[in-house]
Amino acid sequence: MNKRSLVSIDDISREEILDLLKRASYFEAHPNHKLLDGKVVATLFFEPSTRTRLSFETAVNRLGGRVIGFSDASTSSSSKGETLKDTIKMVSNYVDLIIMRHYLEGAARYATEVTDVPIINAGDGANQHPSQTLLDLYAIYKTQGTLSDLNITMVGDLKYGRTVHSLLMAMKYFRPTFHFVACDELRMPKIYKEICDRCGITYYEHKELTPEVINATDILYMTRVQRERFSDILEYEKVKNLYTLRRSMLAGSKPNLRVLHPLPRVNEIAQDVDESSKAYYFEQAKGGLYARQAIICRALGIEVPTFSTPSKS
Ligand code: CP
Repeated sequence: MNKRSLVSIDDISREEILDLLKRASYFEAHPNHKLLDGKVVATLFFEPSTRTRLSFETAVNRLGGRVIGFSDASTSSSSKGETLKDTIKMVSNYVDLIIMRHYLEGAARYATEVTDVPIINAGDGANQHPSQTLLDLYAIYKTQGTLSDLNITMVGDLKYGRTVHSLLMAMKYFRPTFHFVACDELRMPKIYKEICDRCGITYYEHKELTPEVINATDILYMTRVQRERFSDILEYEKVKNLYTLRRSMLAGSKPNLRVLHPLPRVNEIAQDVDESSKAYYFEQAKGGLYARQAIICRALGIEVPTFSTPSKS
């Protein structure tokens, strides 16, 4: 595996996370720094995406590189039966970096085993979404002034939600207290609760998103119940609308509370929340551009000037 690949958030240390956040801050101030002259990057999306693919591609373009790839695997030779291994080996002949999203857990890790070109995992099934985590951390740092000692409430699909799995693993460095709000069918898997146990992280599980939980929260991380992860559509129908955040529910919340969501949302955040000063999900997604510029430069071994420090991490 190329050591610059980013497959899991666990591939990078606390120090590297903080360094990437500094670099993201640099790119927020200098989004058009042409550091990728002559580089070609592939974006291979075997699953749909709006934000991740477009922000990665914008990041490459703003850095002065070129992008090739596909946003719909049905237009690629995988639809003729070409294996992932052969696809990755072929694309590796053309590019300096591969950014890929795949519906199978472990697909990005597998890709690193068949190429020396660095791989960035843009989401693999219900497993990991490390670039989302970097932008989530960037949003948390920007809104809270720190990553440490925060009350983080995760709501919705905690079973299949790769964004919450990655975020939990990154936050283990920063002494969070977690509140997991989910129905029985979508509870946080045992493996992630065991990580909390091993790292001495306090967590509470709830079935309801109550005022008590909201009012103790610094970061309210809402997630979508993902229809595409259910094999039984009736099971999805049963749980899809269990948690909807409405603006009135934020009335007693802490002044610093911010609502995050990896997006896309369906019904889990009512439109009236958008008008609240505590809604931060669109700014969060915007920061994804800068976080991904930082991730791309790391993957390509390109030095980035830094000036702004997440010093109080
Ligand atoms: N947050 C996220 O991964 O969004 P997309 O599916 O639109 O890329």
